[in-house]
Amino acid sequence: MTYNDSFIRACRKQPTDHVPVWYMRQAGRYDPDYRVIKEKFSLLEICRQPELAAEVTLMPVKKLGVDAAILYSDIMNPVASLGVDFDIVKNIGPVIENPIRTAADVDRLKPIDVEGDLGHILETIRILDKQLEVPLITFAGAPFTIASYLIEGRPSKNYIRTKELMYSQPQVWEKLMDKLGDMVIAYLRSHVKSGGKAFQLFDSWVGALAPRDFEIYVLPTITRIFAELSELDVPKIYFPGVSSGELLPSLRKLQADVIGIDWRVSITEGRRRTGGGFAVQGNLDPLLLTAPMELLKERAKDLIDEGILEPGYIFNLGHGLFPEASLDKLRGLTEFIHEYSRKVMQK
Ligand code: CP3
Repeated sequence: MTYNDSFIRACRKQPTDHVPVWYMRQAGRYDPDYRVIKEKFSLLEICRQPELAAEVTLMPVKKLGVDAAILYSDIMNPVASLGVDFDIVKNIGPVIENPIRTAADVDRLKPIDVEGDLGHILETIRILDKQLEVPLITFAGAPFTIASYLIEGRPSKNYIRTKELMYSQPQVWEKLMDKLGDMVIAYLRSHVKSGGKAFQLFDSWVGALAPRDFEIYVLPTITRIFAELSELDVPKIYFPGVSSGELLPSLRKLQADVIGIDWRVSITEGRRRTGGGFAVQGNLDPLLLTAPMELLKERAKDLIDEGILEPGYIFNLGHGLFPEASLDKLRGLTEFIHEYSRKVMQK
C-alpha cells in the first residue's frame, strides 16, 4: 500500500485523481464496535490510553476507506492543563463544575504544559504516525467555542453568559481570548512536532455572533493563531461551524489553507465569499444520511460536480456525524465519492 496524500494535495489546491473525503466525528457512536469500547471506557479514559485512542482513530479509516484520519480526542482536553476541571457527560457534552465568569477566574488559568499534562495525546499521535497510510488531522477548539463551554459550564443554545461577559467586560474577554489563543498555538505546534500532518481549528459555535461582533471580539485571536502557526509546513483548516455563512467574508485574510463550510451556503458561494484563495471543505447536510441511498448519491454527485469546478475541494459534511448514522450508508457514500469523482476527474 502506498501513502495516500490526496487530502494534503487538495488542501494545497494541487491536482488529485479523486476527491478526498473524511467526515467530522468519523469515530463515534454510529459504529457498533465503538459502542462496545464505550461500554467499558469513557471518552476521557480512552484518550488517556494512547494505544486504545490510536485504535479508535483507525477504526473509521479501515471501515469507511476515508482519505484522512482525525485524532480521537475532544476539544476540551487541553483545558485540563489550564487547571479547569471538566467532564464529558453522556448525552450532554462538556460540563464544568466551576465555570469561568470573573476576572479572577481568568487570571487563575495556567499556561498550557503540553508535554507535562497532555503527553498521552502526543503519544497517540506518534503511534498513529507510524501506522497510518493516510494523513492524520489533529485539531483544537477555537477560543470562542472553548470559551462558550468554560463560561456557560455546559452546552448552550443562546450563549447568554458568554455574550454578557464579551459585551460587558471586554478586557476580561480579551484576556481570556489571549490565554486560549496561547493554548491553541502551543497545543497545535506540539501536534505537528509529534507527527500530525494537518490541523483543523473547530469554531463550532461562533456562527452565533453577528459579523461585526465576530470581527471585534474573535477574529483578532483567530488571525494571530494562524499567523503564529504559519511557519508550520502542514495544511491548516478553519471550520467556523454551523450557520457561519455570514462570517465567511471576514475570513479573507486568514493565513489558513482550507475553510470548512456548513450546508446553508453552497460551495461556489463559500468560495466567492472567502475571496477564492482557499481550498474548501464540506458541506453535505449530515442529516442527508437519513435519506434513501439514491437521494444521498444524487446530492453527493451534485456536490462533487460543483466542488471540482475549481482546484482545492475536500468532501465532508457540513457538521459532525450523528450517532444514528448508518455504517453501511457511510461506507456506500464513501465508495460512491471515490468512484464517481475518479470517473469525472479523468475525463
Ligand atoms: O471527529 C472525530 O471523529 C474525532 C473526535 C472528536 C470528538 N470531539 C470526540 C467526541 C472531535 C473532532 C471532537 C470535537 C468536538 N468536541 C467539538 C467540535 C466539533 C463539532 O462537533 O462541532 C465540540 C463542539 C466538542 C464538544 C463535545 N464533546 C460535544 C458537544 C459532545 C457531544 C455530547 C454527546 O454525547 O453527543 C462531546 C462528546 C464527544 N466527543 C463524543 C465524541 C465521539 C460523543 C460522546 C462519546 O462517544 O462519548
